[in-house]
Amino acid sequence: MLNVKNLIKDFGKVRIINSTDFEVQEDEIVSLVGPNGAGKTTLVNLVSGHILPTSGKIEFFDRDITFASPYRRIKMGIARNFQITNLFENNTVLDNVRTCLFSIYAKIKNGFLPAGRYRTITREAVNILDVFGIADKQDLFPPSLSEGDKKILDTAMAFALKSKFLLLDEPTSGVATGDKFKVMDTIISAIKRENLACMIIEHDMDIVSDYSDRVLVLSEGEIIADGIPNEIMEQDNVKEILFGVRT
Ligand SMILES: Nc1ncnc2c1ncn2[C@@H]1O[C@H](COP(=O)(O)OP(=O)(O)OP(=O)(O)O)[C@@H](O)[C@H]1O
Ligand SMILES: [Mg+2]
Repeated sequence: MLNVKNLIKDFGKVRIINSTDFEVQEDEIVSLVGPNGAGKTTLVNLVSGHILPTSGKIEFFDRDITFASPYRRIKMGIARNFQITNLFENNTVLDNVRTCLFSIYAKIKNGFLPAGRYRTITREAVNILDVFGIADKQDLFPPSLSEGDKKILDTAMAFALKSKFLLLDEPTSGVATGDKFKVMDTIISAIKRENLACMIIEHDMDIVSDYSDRVLVLSEGEIIADGIPNEIMEQDNVKEILFGVRT
């Protein structure tokens, strides 16, 4: 589904992503792990189109999207959240999701939206909140949500963009340790129910082992391991990079 080939990104004279190759298959849940500054968010930005590579190629369903705009990629089914959540604080939870749906569906003529279309969008927004288990919070404003529910709403909004592939940059950052698994359960069960693929950046290795089909380990812009969680965590170079264990 997603095919990244020999991707390179330089910021000035510094090579941040170095000859990276990887694939993500349909329905696959892949974790991207690595130390602070390894280039994880940069890689997500390259796949979502928020930055462009120095060289290399990105294909999505065999189409070359290397230089496609973020908007075109969203239309094709690639959506993302942001490491820092991106919610509209003065709109209700329901309106946050509705805004995403308007952005892809609505052809607003002269500032008006046909009532039928409005009702359909509202119904779909409530369905999405239901899939993510926060429909009961639809009338609240984001500042009154828990950190966990903010993260779930943020993911629900990326999901609302009709994505086939979700890029989730630290979906549990800022969430209290005791709530992290609940947040991940909610997000991952929604993703599985809809048969989506996703790539998740996550620092907590317990979460990575519990929820991923495959793990990519990024270190100084290079993928140094790619495989199933239990095997990856046993590799000496991975232990050294992730846990500082020298063998
Ligand atoms: N726009 C930019 N211009 C110059 N350097 C950048 C830019 N964006 C990121 N970098 C540098 O690229 C490196 C990788 O940053 P990136 O944010 O991708 O790391 P990360 O793996 O997501 O880290 P973290 O775990 O802290 O989120 C860092 O050294 C960062 O300073
Ligand atoms: Mg990051």
